Formats: sequence, C-alpha cells, structure tokens
Amino acid sequence: MTTASDHLSRSALLFLSRQSNLKDVATRLKPFRQLAARFIAGETLEEVVDAARALTAKGLMASFDHLNEAVRSPQEARDEVKQYLRLLARIDQVGVKASVSLKLTQCGLLFDRSLALQNARAVVADATARDSFVRVDMEESAVTQATLDIVRSLHSEFGERHVGAVLQSYLRRTEEDAKALCAERVRVRLCKGAYLEGPDVAFPDKQDVDASYVRCMRILLDSGVYHGIATHDERMIDATLAYAARQQLPKGAFEFQMLYGIRRDLQEQLAKAGHPVRVYVPYGKHWYPYFMRRLAERPANLWFVMRNLMKG
Ligand code: FDA
Repeated sequence: MTTASDHLSRSALLFLSRQSNLKDVATRLKPFRQLAARFIAGETLEEVVDAARALTAKGLMASFDHLNEAVRSPQEARDEVKQYLRLLARIDQVGVKASVSLKLTQCGLLFDRSLALQNARAVVADATARDSFVRVDMEESAVTQATLDIVRSLHSEFGERHVGAVLQSYLRRTEEDAKALCAERVRVRLCKGAYLEGPDVAFPDKQDVDASYVRCMRILLDSGVYHGIATHDERMIDATLAYAARQQLPKGAFEFQMLYGIRRDLQEQLAKAGHPVRVYVPYGKHWYPYFMRRLAERPANLWFVMRNLMKG
C-alpha cells in the first residue's frame, strides 16, 4: 500500500535528484556510496564488463548505460558518444549478450536538438555495424515528444533491430503512443516512469499507473513486435505471463527487463523458466540522479542511508 508519507518522500527525493549542487556532497558520503554500489555496477568500463560476465553466466542479458544525463555542452555530449563507441567495441570484443541504453539529454537534447540527433545517430550507426541495439531511454515529459521524434527518425534509417524507444505507463499520453509505435514496428521498453511529473500529464495514483501498464502491455504483446516488459512488480509480471499464455505467445516473443541490483531472485527465476531477461546495468561517475530515482522508488532504502549517517 502506498501511504501519504511515501508520496511525500518520493516527491522530495525526486526533487533532490535534480539539485546538482547536492551531488558533490552526497556522492562523497560513505553510506550513500555503499548503497549506490547495490544499484550501480561500477565507475569504469572494466568493472561493468565483469558485471556483464556474471550476468551472462546466469543466463541473463544486459543493457549498459553510461551514466551522465542532462549534459550542458557540445564537448560533454561528444565525450558521451566516445564513451558509447568504446562500450560497443568492448561488448563486441568480450562477446557478452548486451545492448546499450542511451539518454538523449546525454547527447545534447537540452540545448541543441539537431546535435542530439547527430550524436545519437553516431551511436546507433556503430551499433548497427556491430549488429547490436540501442535503447533510447525516456526522461522527463518535457522531452517525451522530442525523444520519440528522434527515435522515429533513427528507426526509419536503421530499422527495428537496431534502435527502440521507452514508454512510461504513468503518462496519460502513453496508450496512444504505444498504439502508434506498434503500428510503425518500433520496439518499446515499457516501464512505469521514474520522474517527478504533474497530474496534468501523469496519473498521480499508483493504481492508475498500474492499470495503464497492463493496458499498454497488452497493446505491445498483440503487435507481433519484440518488446521489453520492464518491471519488478510481480503483479505486472503475472499479468504479462497470463496474457501471453492466453494469446499463445511463445516464450521468446518478448523479454522481461529489470534493473541491476533489484529483485535478482526474480531475474534468475524468470530466466530459469526460459524467459529472455535483460538487466539494465548502469555505470560511471555521474550516478547521483540515477541513484536518487532508485531511492525515490523505495523510500525505505533511505533509512539505510540515514541510519548509517547517524552512526557516523
Ligand atoms: P514498483 O515501483 O511498483 O515496484 C515493484 C516492486 O519492485 C517493489 O515492491 C520492490 O520490491 C521492487 N522495487 C522497485 N524499485 C525498487 C528500488 N529502487 N529498490 C528496491 N526495490 C525496488 N524509468 C523511466 O522513466 N525511463 C526509463 O527509460 C526507464 N528505464 C528502465 C529500464 C528498466 C530495465 C527498468 C526495470 C526500469 C526502468 N525505469 C525507467 C524505471 C521505472 O520507470 C520504474 O521507476 C522502476 O522500474 C520501478 O517500478 P516497478 O515497475 O518495478 O514497480
């Protein structure tokens, strides 16, 4: 059950996730770093490759995310492209089953939309040459339309096997987006949504977000396109399994996706039952906003940090 205090903590944590001035202080605190290590595979490419090897050994696939969002300069955005090109080359070399996840604000979307397209295009072109896949993460609703426009442009050039979108079931617009993207054969990762949004654009109540998730999941599963069902919510997973059985879909018709460090038991259980499962593996130095969104999803995590801070 979600309580009023959960709502309040979630909003407060999401507000703090956007305060870049807090980032330097927070990332130096040991309890923060300790808890962050549960959700972030490491700060370097080699650490993340080790994490991917461990996942592969358990029959899990990965999608790597080099953490750094809302970059502020063209140079920073170009540096992110270089990081992704190194990452794709390393994945190829090591031979782990992995794709990449990319944020468009990491490519410059907040200050130059055509630069963001150009940068994302460079990453998708490289992934295509390596027969890999780029999932374009979805960020705040202020950039939803621009993000989908860019994904569509990349999809028309590189095709469904090399680039896909993310939709968030908390947004009121998402059901229509799901129908449109399926008609265009764009691969979608369906998640609930992790940002602070107003009731004008997003459902404020969890039960409406969940109901929207189930409606969208059904649209995706009916489409014959290979989508990702991204959730740790067992009720959403059960609803997906039940619908897939009813529609007589084979196990490889879609994949489940979960975040690194969350519900590892469920990840392994689904993989053992023969379902494709992909783990989203974030890494890099700029983990503060990602980590704060994970805290906001489960404010109970915050008590771990508070207790350890008080212990000194
Ligand atoms: P819900 O929040 O209801 O949680 C269900 C259960 O999962 C909880 O009861 C708990 O057991 C466990 N759980 C969930 N979060 C936890 C946490 N942080 N710590 C510990 N346990 C936790 N969002 C977005 O806006 N844009 C994006 O591009 C993506 N990408 C993405 C990729 C993948 C692979 C996943 C799984 C998720 C995302 N998300 C995302 C995040 C997503 O929107 C959502 O915030 C989280 O997945 C939490 O929602 P659940 O569906 O897990 O349900």
